[in-house]
Amino acid sequence: MREQPTAVATVMDESGEPNPYLLGVHAPVHEQITAVNLKVIGEIPRDLNGVYLRNGPNARYPMKGRYHWFDGDGMVHAMHFENGRARYRNRYVRTRAFEAESAAGESLWTGVMESPKGNPFGNTRGLNLKDSANTDVIFHRGKVLATWYLCGSPYSLDPLSLETLGVENFLNTLTGDVMAHPKVDERTGELFWFDYGPREPYLRYGVVGAGGAVEHCVELDLPGARLPHDMAITENHAILMDLPLFQDLDAARQGRHKLTFDRELPSRFGVIPRRGLAHEIRWFEARPCYIYHVVNAWEYGDEIVMDVCRVSRPVPRGTGSPLTRMLSYLKLDARMYRYRFDLRTGRTSEEFVDEDHNTEFPSIDARKTGNITRYAYNVSVKDADVNLFDGLVRYDNVTGERQAYHFGEHRYGSEAPFAPRDGATGEDDGYLVTFVTDEREGTSEVQILSAADLAAGPIARVLIPQRVPLGFHATWVRSDQLR
Ligand SMILES: [Fe+2]
Repeated sequence: MREQPTAVATVMDESGEPNPYLLGVHAPVHEQITAVNLKVIGEIPRDLNGVYLRNGPNARYPMKGRYHWFDGDGMVHAMHFENGRARYRNRYVRTRAFEAESAAGESLWTGVMESPKGNPFGNTRGLNLKDSANTDVIFHRGKVLATWYLCGSPYSLDPLSLETLGVENFLNTLTGDVMAHPKVDERTGELFWFDYGPREPYLRYGVVGAGGAVEHCVELDLPGARLPHDMAITENHAILMDLPLFQDLDAARQGRHKLTFDRELPSRFGVIPRRGLAHEIRWFEARPCYIYHVVNAWEYGDEIVMDVCRVSRPVPRGTGSPLTRMLSYLKLDARMYRYRFDLRTGRTSEEFVDEDHNTEFPSIDARKTGNITRYAYNVSVKDADVNLFDGLVRYDNVTGERQAYHFGEHRYGSEAPFAPRDGATGEDDGYLVTFVTDEREGTSEVQILSAADLAAGPIARVLIPQRVPLGFHATWVRSDQLR
């Protein structure tokens, strides 16, 4: 074992300050590999068949200007399980910007910490930043869509080869962008999304039908430009957000990226029928906050219940250099929280599910998106300046029980979606799969845990011959979906 962290900055930015999101467990890797015959500690369950995919930023060239965690080029890491064997693969998402920089052999874009003036091109909303498709991976209609947090083109990937197949424009029916976290209803085959931007319309909401074309799209009124990150669906509705954290417009006019949290404004949640028109949206008010991620939502009598990871004070705690402020802004500090929107009275009630623990990147049994779910599987966020996921947590809505597994000192994981075992009958009848990277060793592995007994620790560990940098969102694709 080596004494010091092995990973050093291999890609620097121009700030001159060491950026922790380019170092250690966050440092990008440069090789795209396919690895078979991997060493396994324990035994891979034979009823775990499918592929675990995780997206994340992986800066390819030294950045023009300062680097922000959200700037790196999208890279998808995948572990494919079949009959007790595992195969690892990592590939860049070959976006238009990625191809342009490949041809130039250098960075052509500045990131979100700098003015975008002079960047070659941006998204269809006129935001001149590099759409890196680095944020989430969504499985829909046989393909994986890599998405970007500020709204961009969804890029379609083959779920096994990870080859980038191109921009997914839904049979030429997509006219704008798509946000990071579209929702898929497996029962109907529909995909629900929104896009947003600094100019009107500030928010658009749409539905892709089971046939793969956009069948519904409406412009929604907001009081100004907002920064919504996620949404929810229920059996009959979609839920969109108007939260009081937004771009400082004066700063934006000067080309600077600055966020303002207005604690005098309420949070607003817009409930709209799935194929509803703009005037059919009903807004429910709640205490001011910011929300990155929804756990799930469902209908219960006259109410809509929505569980989220809620940030009560989305303001940076640090002052000082731009890097310090960036780290402070980025630091996840969220609590599991429940809203109930009463469709009869128009009133909202809200309460903590867990007031004590900072957990994020929630997952559920994806087959139940929009329907009542018993379990949520989150990552626990380490108390540190940089985002590090030091364990997994399972919340039980019925008993209120909270089960946790800690990866161990200096070991950090990824979002861990529920992977049902073949023939699964329940929401915890299967596994959680996560990449785990060891900060001191500079090594990575996949861990497989029983979703019913997280505390027991991994059933199997599959060693990967390359480090997997920490990243953003993940998904599980079952083998029956791959056929
Ligand atoms: Fe996200």
